[in-house]
Amino acid sequence: EKGGYPDFMLKEIHEQPRVVRDTLVGRMVGGELDIDELGLTYEELNLIDRVYVIACGTSYHAGLIAKNLIEMWARIPCEVEAASEFRYRNPIITPSTLVVAVSQSGETADTLAAIRDARIKGAKVFGITNVVGSPVARESDGVIYTKANKEIAVASTKSFIGQVVSLTLLSLLLAQVKGKLTTGQVRMLFRELGDTAEQIQWIFDTQAEAVHEAALACKDAHSALFVGRGMGAAIAHEGALKLKEISYLHAEAYAAGEMKHGPIALIDPGFPVIAVTTKSPTYDKTVSNLKECEARGAKIIVVATEGDEDIKQIADHVIYIPPVRDAFCPITATVPLQLLAREVAIMRDCDVDQPRNLAKSVTVE
Ligand code: M6R
Repeated sequence: EKGGYPDFMLKEIHEQPRVVRDTLVGRMVGGELDIDELGLTYEELNLIDRVYVIACGTSYHAGLIAKNLIEMWARIPCEVEAASEFRYRNPIITPSTLVVAVSQSGETADTLAAIRDARIKGAKVFGITNVVGSPVARESDGVIYTKANKEIAVASTKSFIGQVVSLTLLSLLLAQVKGKLTTGQVRMLFRELGDTAEQIQWIFDTQAEAVHEAALACKDAHSALFVGRGMGAAIAHEGALKLKEISYLHAEAYAAGEMKHGPIALIDPGFPVIAVTTKSPTYDKTVSNLKECEARGAKIIVVATEGDEDIKQIADHVIYIPPVRDAFCPITATVPLQLLAREVAIMRDCDVDQPRNLAKSVTVE
């Protein structure tokens, strides 16, 4: 049932191009974006003036990406919050608040409790889940299914990609309803979104050796830092979580601009710094942060855009992804970090599918 792969994690990572395609099937109807299971009319959507994305773990990281997209495209203020925090404070909720609950399993206790609380306070709740008929699906006003199919490895990979694609669709819809993007712009972006399926495949076909070399450079470390800016920072958080949960190597993620406010003190010769330096509006800024790490002897590993030769001047290891619009970069740039975490875990003799102390569904608080 592992389909010829040595573990479920690798099988599921390789399913990601299919997940992108399946999540988009039926979403462009007669040239219009269609999310008919929303449970909210366009009039109701148009009234939304605040969005909270609530989730845990990897699903929370998908929320960090959604915040960037919703604020960039739809210009609606969006906060991302761990469900375990959201449920115990008194968030500002009005009838024009949209709460988006993201949960692969659809049964995470904190996320469910947060949904219930938000609905009592009058918010509209929209669920994004991988499990049909799950509590999150049942208790939300509307739901998008991520089409990842059953995920067995405890570390989420393909469901994360399904969540990010689904949240991208929701962001596009909000932008269209709010009149911030035209239907023509939405169609163009939708097409580009679909291209990420082939771009992920390209990573599998061409970057395996680069990932392996980078993993060798990390495997004996005691700690690693993941950095990036904007979308890159969100990707860095997911990369760090993957590495720590399956390889038991301590990893932390920082927005690259925060390095000099503390974490740079950790850097000594050989310390791995893993950076997302894809071509984006903040590329130069991230590179200059990396130079400061390089000057202190860090081992620099980057995920960069194919064709960027200059980055080799500071990076010890480069893993390339195809050129992609910054908005869609998380869908491809996360993939090398999933592969890196898995290789490091295997080199450290860890069980990548069943990491210690973790469960696939966290149904207790
Ligand atoms: O099923 P959920 O998406 O609600 O689960 C949330 C987290 O427990 C989950 O993402 C966890 O962090 C994974 N082990 C990450 O790989």
